[in-house]
Parts: sequence; structure tokens; C-alpha cells
Amino acid sequence: MAVERTLSIIKPDAVAKNVIGEIYSRFEKAGLRIVAARMLHLSREQAEGFYAVHRERPFFNDLVAFMTSGPVMVQALEGEDAIAKHREVMGATNPKEAAPGTIRADFASTIDENAVHGSDGPDTAKTEIAFFFREEEICPRTR
Ligand code: PPS
Repeated sequence: MAVERTLSIIKPDAVAKNVIGEIYSRFEKAGLRIVAARMLHLSREQAEGFYAVHRERPFFNDLVAFMTSGPVMVQALEGEDAIAKHREVMGATNPKEAAPGTIRADFASTIDENAVHGSDGPDTAKTEIAFFFREEEICPRTR
């Protein structure tokens, strides 16, 4: 299976719950390595840019307001089949439908504040990682 990279965001609700470490631990147990990380408070322009593909959806303004409501923790994850593995560990977008033991089942309760974001495919992963990290900020593991 191919080694991939994916973009992960721990959203403002999960940062406020102080569960960054617990979420990182789940990534590590799933074989996902953190190869870049940064905490930041997204500006309105950054959130609108990141979610531009959803601009026409009815929840767009709420999503931008939520994502700018507090700091987020952003990381690039690397590992075999990382994109699908990460989405499996996150659980379904709606926490009410998320499988038991997934991050969203354990740390979120509503679709509008669902704890984490993960890229949904290789092209998106590339674009989303580049949105937050320059290539030289990514530290692939050599051992
Ligand atoms: S997915 O996983 O991208 O296919 O999910 P999708 O349903 O397309 O949702 C895209 C992002 O919008 C968020 N979302 C919402 N925010 C606020 N209110 C409502 N009702 C809502 N529905 C979906 C959802 O969490 C996705 O955010 P990300 O950060 O991509 O996970």
C-alpha cells in the first residue's frame, strides 16, 4: 500500500475541550505519523479560502464562524493509506452516525462542531497541506 500524506485539523471545539493529546494518540495508534504541525487562530479570509468549495452550501457562514471561533491545531499526517486510515479514525461527518470509538463519536456531538477535519482524497490532501505548510516545513521520518 502506498505511503500518503493527509491534512488534519483539530477544530476549535476539540481544542477547547483540551483533547489534542488524546487525538494525537489515536493518530499514532493508527500508524499515522505527524510530519508537520502548527496551532493558529484562522482569520475569516483563511477559513473562507480553505472551505471555498462549500461556499454555496447553506451552512457555509456557520462553518466559517465556527472555524474562526478559537484556535485550531493543524497537522500533516503521513503513513500507508493515510487518507482513508485518517477518515476511519475520525468517524462519520455527523457524530451521531460515527462508529463507536472514533474521534467524532467520542469528542463531538453535532455535525456543526465535529472536532476534526481530514482530507477526502489525494488531490485535496495535496492542496490542503500546501494551504498550511511550505514543503520545507514538512519533516518526513527517516527512521
Ligand atoms: S465531507 O466529509 O466533506 O463530505 O462532508 P460534507 O457533508 O460535505 O461537509 C463539508 C464540511 O462542512 C461541515 N458541515 C457543516 N458545518 C456546519 N453545519 C452543518 N450543517 C454542516 N454540515 C456539514 C462538515 O463538518 C465538513 O467540514 P470538514 O471540516 O470538511 O469536516
